[in-house]
Amino acid sequence: MQKKERLDKILSNLGYGSRKDVKGLVKSGSIEVDGKIVKDGSLKIDPYSSVLKIKGEVVEYREFIYLMMNKPQGVISSTDDFRDKTIIDLISDQYKVFNPFPVGRLDKDTEGLMVLTNDGQLSHRVLSPKKHVEKLYYAEVEGVVTEEDKKLFSEGVILDDGYKTLPAKLEIIASDSISKIYLTIKEGKFHQVKRMFLSVGKRVIYLKRMAIGGLRLDESLGLGEYRELTNEEILLLEKKGLSK
Ligand code: URA
Repeated sequence: MQKKERLDKILSNLGYGSRKDVKGLVKSGSIEVDGKIVKDGSLKIDPYSSVLKIKGEVVEYREFIYLMMNKPQGVISSTDDFRDKTIIDLISDQYKVFNPFPVGRLDKDTEGLMVLTNDGQLSHRVLSPKKHVEKLYYAEVEGVVTEEDKKLFSEGVILDDGYKTLPAKLEIIASDSISKIYLTIKEGKFHQVKRMFLSVGKRVIYLKRMAIGGLRLDESLGLGEYRELTNEEILLLEKKGLSK
């Protein structure tokens, strides 16, 4: 059984504006609950079992939204920035009204999987250092990445600030003047992948996040494109294992 919520809160969760806007909407007689016009915003209803109509249109209730984006380079992964374009600038008003925020950060020049949601608890669980949710990255690195680097990463390397990283899994796809690798890490320190390679004297020149937990980037999304997560994908986000 779902818990009942105030009508005005439901309407604001659905993105129908400020408290004042919502009040006006309710007063105007535009809201119908189970076939009856309701003019009292404090009325408590079960938004999942009641039929809610706004201006004659049936509205499907939801409190949270979950989006996956293929973040392009040159875009900041925060909700606002006075100078640069942010990932929020890339999404449509239909989703913006839910005030989504990114689950974790990517550098301005990093591409790939970014999850946006307004579900603070889920975000907290995914980002919690205690949960060790795995993040998979593809990187191109200047110089030859070696078996020795693989061993060092698996033991943990010391970053420039003296922090020792948790064991990480390095897979070498191609090892040449520019090496191609996959790296799975279980934490998310600032610039972590770049700094891990710097600790072994190498520079990351291209970085793309491929997965968070069991959730993989949908490669059919072009750079800057996004879509809603399916229910299965929302669950995968918190699953730790990545099967490649
Ligand atoms: N590690 C980095 O160095 N940069 C990112 O954007 C993500 C992980």
